Amino acid sequence: MSASQTERHVGLIGLGTMGSALALNIAEKGFPIAVWNRTVQVTRDFHAKAGGLAAMITPTETLAALVAAIRPPRAIILMVPAGQAVDDQLAALAPLLGPADLVIDAGNANFHDTNRRNAAELPFHFMGLGVSGGEEGARHGPAIMAGGAFEDWASVEPMLHAIAARSDDGTPCAAYLGPEGAGHFVKAVHNGIEYADMQMIAEVYGVMRDGLNMAAPEIGDTFARWNDGVLRSYLVEISGIVAKAHDRLSDGPLLDVILDAAGQKGTGRWTVIEAQNLAAPIPVIEAAVHARNVSARLAERAAGQAVFGPVEAGGADLSTEDLEHALIAGKILCYAQGFSMMSAAGTEFGWDLDMPAIARVWRAGCIIRSAMLNDMAEALAEDAGRNLILAHFFANHLRRSVPALRKVVATGALHGLACPALASGLAWFDMMRTARGTANMIQAQRDFFGLHGFKRLDGRDLPHGPWAEA
Ligand SMILES: NC(=O)c1ccc[n+]([C@@H]2O[C@H](COP(=O)([O-])OP(=O)(O)OC[C@H]3O[C@@H](n4cnc5c(N)ncnc54)[C@H](OP(=O)(O)O)[C@@H]3O)[C@@H](O)[C@H]2O)c1
Repeated sequence: MSASQTERHVGLIGLGTMGSALALNIAEKGFPIAVWNRTVQVTRDFHAKAGGLAAMITPTETLAALVAAIRPPRAIILMVPAGQAVDDQLAALAPLLGPADLVIDAGNANFHDTNRRNAAELPFHFMGLGVSGGEEGARHGPAIMAGGAFEDWASVEPMLHAIAARSDDGTPCAAYLGPEGAGHFVKAVHNGIEYADMQMIAEVYGVMRDGLNMAAPEIGDTFARWNDGVLRSYLVEISGIVAKAHDRLSDGPLLDVILDAAGQKGTGRWTVIEAQNLAAPIPVIEAAVHARNVSARLAERAAGQAVFGPVEAGGADLSTEDLEHALIAGKILCYAQGFSMMSAAGTEFGWDLDMPAIARVWRAGCIIRSAMLNDMAEALAEDAGRNLILAHFFANHLRRSVPALRKVVATGALHGLACPALASGLAWFDMMRTARGTANMIQAQRDFFGLHGFKRLDGRDLPHGPWAEA
């Protein structure tokens, strides 16, 4: 009997934020699980606090004991930091596991590492799993993006479907997306989009705060209102909650006392680097990653303000409806870029990524879950190869919302209110709707200094300018 026909018995390594929540989720769904953590006391504390689920969980204090506690064929989930820790654990498991066992890397691995591990002669099966939704998702239902051999996915599908989030129509948000590192690749793009969604929300927050002089609670009410409409999403919902939060120490809005410097851990950056490798434009995500890097340069920004003066507060001639529509347009443009990049990757790597399935997986459990993903799944099911902005439904949305995006970006530029992600989305859109662009000038320049040649519109056979004859 092959492993795919057999129910695997489950173990988990790494009882940090994500691992402990995932272990409890697995136990709660009726799958007995053995766990091990590098620091033994963490395992003991975890088991002691597992309450009614403790009986489903076998705590172990060595890696050998973990393996011995799981009946073969095993599925051992790794929830440790991406990179060397994963390679170390794979090396440590190698002498302990059999050829029918499966190790699942459920951390945020770089998909190139997952490709490498899939190609390596590991003495067990291996698959890379993208898991999104933070601690809450891991505990009660994450979105799961699987890559690797289909048989390996099939052998753990019942468990992964059981622990995954469910969309409104009851579909589990866990899917097999393709071979090798396809799952981790899609998770990285998800995280890139997450950066962009958050950045665009931060930009409209900034316009409301600095351009319209709105107080944080009022901004919170605005986000809450938007969350009842087209923008309905987890990120808009929590933005409303955090904007309305009160800080008891300062007795004012919490947002007003939080340092404006955001870090970035890697997946956003990986997405941007990979987009460049694929020549797949994702300028909204790039702007969001840049914005986090700029935000971290606090001293330089303070020096800049000292030299050039602060932005003048108030006076922006915009309504919150303009901002809502600008955000709708920005979101559509950002997702169109993200799906287009995944399409390019599918072709480049021979993965045949299932675009509607990706949109469906993101509908619940993950940080970027939103009502709009239902419509995106439908549009991609109609034609996965067509850019999302050309789908009838989204083209109509853009016709209605792009004028507001233009107004917000232009007003931001005039008032010095930085909106890099929204502006990047608009510039990309304008390029994408211009049949006769400006690269003819670039081609002529390249021919002038390097005799690179150019294609002519009239089809005639003279691929150089007059400078070639000099
Ligand atoms: N946090 C999130 O929202 C989130 C969401 C999606 C994906 N992820 C990914 O999930 C993975 C785990 O993240 P986390 O937030 O749960 O991290 P975490 O809370 O810092 O926990 C890390 C776990 O890994 C163990 N560990 C660290 N280095 C190790 C090593 N060299 N060998 C063996 N075990 C080691 C730690 O054990 P000790 O107790 O001994 O330190 C701990 O159990 C990461 O890849 C992360 O990027 C996180």
